[in-house]
Amino acid sequence: MTGNERNTLLERRFRVLGSHSPLFYEEPLHLVRGEGVWVYDADGRRYLDVYNNVPHVGHCHPRVVEAIARQAATLNTHTRYLHDNIVNYAERLTAKFHPSLNMAMFACTGSEANEVALRMARHATGNEGIIVTDFAYHGNTAAVAELGTGFMPEAQSTQRVASFPIPDSYRTPQELSGDALADYYADTVQQAIDTLQSRGLGVAGILICPDFANEGLVYEPPGFLAKAIERVRAAGGLYIADEVQGGFGRTGHHWWSHEWAGVTPDIVTLGKPMGNGHPISGVIASEHLIEAFGEWGMYFNTFAGNPVSCAAAAAVLDVLEQENLLQNAVDTGACVARGLRELQSRHALIGDVRDKGLFFAIELVRDRDTREAAGAEARQVVNAMRREGVLISSIGKQDQILKLRPPMPFQREHADRLIETLDTCLTQVTEARRG
Ligand SMILES: Cc1ncc(COP(=O)(O)O)c(C=O)c1O
Repeated sequence: MTGNERNTLLERRFRVLGSHSPLFYEEPLHLVRGEGVWVYDADGRRYLDVYNNVPHVGHCHPRVVEAIARQAATLNTHTRYLHDNIVNYAERLTAKFHPSLNMAMFACTGSEANEVALRMARHATGNEGIIVTDFAYHGNTAAVAELGTGFMPEAQSTQRVASFPIPDSYRTPQELSGDALADYYADTVQQAIDTLQSRGLGVAGILICPDFANEGLVYEPPGFLAKAIERVRAAGGLYIADEVQGGFGRTGHHWWSHEWAGVTPDIVTLGKPMGNGHPISGVIASEHLIEAFGEWGMYFNTFAGNPVSCAAAAAVLDVLEQENLLQNAVDTGACVARGLRELQSRHALIGDVRDKGLFFAIELVRDRDTREAAGAEARQVVNAMRREGVLISSIGKQDQILKLRPPMPFQREHADRLIETLDTCLTQVTEARRG
């Protein structure tokens, strides 16, 4: 594809989708094919995908493709008919959770799943207020946008949401550690509770990603979550774990990210990786919550839980189990983390490296003592990596955190390629800034 053809496609896109339809990279990428951890552009150049968590078991995994094709060629309809796929899948999925989380509902996107969770929590508690971090993103429906303190306009004006600072052990506001730090952040959750109560809204729940993925995959102070949830529950609220990013074994040792902190949620929401790119999402909760919600008002979602979606989602579980991909996340994840920490020992730009299975954050700073965020540098690294054939992205309040979430079949040879390329790009960016 020539540069002119690419520019024409870009202009057509802006004309028909609007100039704000977001695209990655200074030089947008025109992808036409994917396989495993690789994607290919229109010129046949391949890129190592270290960013996309939706193709969870690898781009175009043959087993998932075959399951979708077979079911699509047999029957696809909605859930007001009996079908084996939704029942089989729901049984298999709920069996992977704590016994108290024994029922499932389906939706099509993470936003919808969170929307259902909000309605369920508000109905069950009789309260309106929701607590989130101060740099959250949980989706784009009207009610869920109110939670998007990171950059959603609705979050700026809503009264129904109160936030607390990201419980970030790297960027602590005071010289605190251990229990004192956990207490400090738990107190900020208490302040959010007090704010909602003073507005007369009460507390319906706290909705957080247990990995704090959009916040920068921060390490929360040990003990913080248990203390925070205890306070929310004491105020009558529920714990809603948004596992739209971290679910389905990405963090390696567990199927679900909330298991790391050892606090069982009241509601869990699922999405992105669930169907390997086929749109299916879910809400997992207790029989009590789901039955009460259903009794209050019928939930029907035309496309959710249809036989094709459930075939795709079941194939994802098959591949995760048969290819031992959780163990791979532990093993290859450790190998990537070692490589990143070795880079940290040589590149002053890397202030902090955080890892959880095959999920990584690399926080770039201009000065390791002041921890001044290096957002412009992070964007330069992301674009340099793309030029070198490796796809990553950045996140954070100043966009200073490199975010890496490769498909789960990521192997050691891919880890080596990632680390070598990152080494090259960090050197390029550091030298360019020295001038
Ligand atoms: C943590 C989290 N929750 C929910 C969502 C919304 O998911 P969707 O885009 O499928 O609506 C996202 C999307 O980025 C997310 O990162």
